[in-house]
Amino acid sequence: MQLQPLRGFRDFYPGEMAARRKVFDKITATARCYGFREIDMPSLESTELIKRKSGDEIVEELFSFTDKGGREVTLIPETTPTIARMVGADKVLLKPVKWFSFGKLWRYEEPQAGRLREFYQLNIDIFGAPGVEAEAELLAFSVRMLDALRLSGKFVLRISDRNILSECFPGQDSGSIFRIIDKKQKLSEREFRAQLELLNLNMEQQELVLALTDEGNQDFGKLENIIPKTEQARVALSRLRKLFELLELYGVRERCRIDMSIVRGLAYYTGMVFECHDAVGELRALFGGGRYDKLVGLFGGEPTPAVGFALGDAVLELLMKRSGVWPAEKVETDYMVVLTEEKHIDTCIRIVESLRRKGLVAEWDIIRRKVSAQVKFADKIYAKKTIFIGEDELKDGNVLVRDMATGEQKLVPVSEIIS
Ligand code: HAM
Repeated sequence: MQLQPLRGFRDFYPGEMAARRKVFDKITATARCYGFREIDMPSLESTELIKRKSGDEIVEELFSFTDKGGREVTLIPETTPTIARMVGADKVLLKPVKWFSFGKLWRYEEPQAGRLREFYQLNIDIFGAPGVEAEAELLAFSVRMLDALRLSGKFVLRISDRNILSECFPGQDSGSIFRIIDKKQKLSEREFRAQLELLNLNMEQQELVLALTDEGNQDFGKLENIIPKTEQARVALSRLRKLFELLELYGVRERCRIDMSIVRGLAYYTGMVFECHDAVGELRALFGGGRYDKLVGLFGGEPTPAVGFALGDAVLELLMKRSGVWPAEKVETDYMVVLTEEKHIDTCIRIVESLRRKGLVAEWDIIRRKVSAQVKFADKIYAKKTIFIGEDELKDGNVLVRDMATGEQKLVPVSEIIS
């Protein structure tokens, strides 16, 4: 029997899951504060839908199969097509629609640091808001979420707009140019130029791509001089400017940078795109997203502006661990009730049940070990307090409560615990 999970899949034991759950709860609590409402969706979609609506990159990595009814189905590699389908199908949506979901996704990728075949992903999307207010709301949320995880100072948001880039190359297939810019980090300048040449970009156009994506040129003043003076480019740049003004109002401007080398791999983005990276630049993107105003319409729904992003748990875990802020991987217990004599089992169960009714985590030894083993167990489950039910104390209606951190002990009336 194989005792390991499949490659790229993970088991989570209780301590590991407890830490992960704390992180997930902080994320979803922040999403709720920003007015995002939780949704959920099927894990399986028709392969056709995914193939038509997901990016090419994702389509190469599908977990697809034929079900028993002969249907071609796929474990969802992202939620965006499904969410766009849901928005298109709902005729009475209250706009703006602000939704989040948190579930498992599947991509048949080569497992490596931050990349798995099964992972959790938070999705945050806003529909029905055409202006940069939606982008600002989204980005402000993302900063606050990472702050809540104690990652302040450990990340940077890089923001771009595909419309600026496509204005630079009129008449060219901007999708192919985006794909190469997306790979720029992994290529030498020579390789990068060679790839651009393959797209028949002349020397001048190649220089333009290099200038646009050069790290030293990423501010409004410099970009204004580089990009063509067309109306479209002007509109896109002033939209980006307005976004940064709003980010200032939200108090998150300092965490955001313009970065024209961000284009994103997925095909459906139509405007602003962004990614969040660790400040040192060692890891893959923590999250990424952008505006995708055409997708709902492509499903036959009413054309609806949309903007969103998704965050996976794998890179987040790496960054939190490197930053020393990943929660301790241990279970938590409020009370362990230690039974010293069999005849007091009724009191033991009464106490443990009344603590549980108060919402506390309470345990007693259901495998009936000796007192010393029960105390050891209390330690192993990180019980904050242990309640000893002993003959002498019980005669006066008391039990002994020990604080496991300080070792302090005090007599407490049973009536007080179960009241
Ligand atoms: P994506 O860039 O494909 O975008 O994925 C977003 C995030 O999901 C990544 O930054 C990463 O954290 C995580 N992720 C992706 N693939 C894997 C993997 N194999 N293993 C672990 N983590 C992974 C999207 O999925 C878009 N649907 C985002 C979006 C939402 N755009 C608009 N709304």
